[in-house]
Amino acid sequence: MLFKKINISIFSFFLVFIFLMKASDARGGDLENERLAEYVLSDDHWLYANLDNIFSRRDVLENSTTFKEAGFVTLYKQPSGMMVAKHPALPGYLVKVYFYSNPNCLESQWLLDRCEGAKNIRNLIEKEKLRYFSVPDKWIYFLPNQDQDIAILVVQDMKLVSREESKKAWKDANKQQLRELYMILNHGFGSCYLCGNMPYTKIGKFACVDTAYPYRQHLYSNIKKYISADRHGYWDQLVKSGENR
Ligand SMILES: Nc1ncnc2c1ncn2[C@@H]1O[C@H](COP(=O)(O)OP(=O)(O)OP(=O)(O)O)[C@@H](O)[C@H]1O
Ligand SMILES: [Mg+2]
Repeated sequence: MLFKKINISIFSFFLVFIFLMKASDARGGDLENERLAEYVLSDDHWLYANLDNIFSRRDVLENSTTFKEAGFVTLYKQPSGMMVAKHPALPGYLVKVYFYSNPNCLESQWLLDRCEGAKNIRNLIEKEKLRYFSVPDKWIYFLPNQDQDIAILVVQDMKLVSREESKKAWKDANKQQLRELYMILNHGFGSCYLCGNMPYTKIGKFACVDTAYPYRQHLYSNIKKYISADRHGYWDQLVKSGENR
């Protein structure tokens, strides 16, 4: 009897030990931060295994050579050092990353802001049944085999048209599209830099790809740079009626 009790105790001890080992092994220790946890890519998503495979090499984010060697093709390099890139093993998705040398690489706020910004717009699109706007799914993915918590952003590829076509789509924007744009901006979401941050997509909607600022005070007159002169009066009306509300 005593022997059986000792056996159970030893077994329980090992169970607790294994659990603790697993917990300390978990990526993203920062996950006590519940706000961040909400956006972490789930390990049962197919992207997760593919990302783990790509990042099994520890040096992928070392520099542009190692990044390219890992299979990434950089589409945009932003002045902040952020790169938007695609990878053949991540079809339909893009990553937004900083190299290790950039201080933002260890910073989780930029990830959180972008995910929250996308969620705000997604909720608004759903609530107001906006027909002409879309927003990418965005997740935070913690790299394996790192000494510190390092994460990247994984985003849905919104299949944008060319910059010129986006410009034209904004020039041709109809009243309903401008009404929806105003609603997004009026909530403090989106951006007034329409061609770069709210470009047009191949499915015929504008995509709110840049969600770096979850809430922002907009200068509505900036929109007039992008839309047809015929619509300036209508835009002023929208802004005025919003102010009077
Ligand atoms: N989800 C997406 N689908 C397709 N293209 C995208 C997506 N997200 C970004 N891009 C492309 O990458 C460009 C840069 O992305 P984004 O605007 O998010 O960077 P940024 O936030 O302005 O960079 P920074 O952090 O330096 O301010 C966009 O103008 C767009 O062309
Ligand atoms: Mg941008």
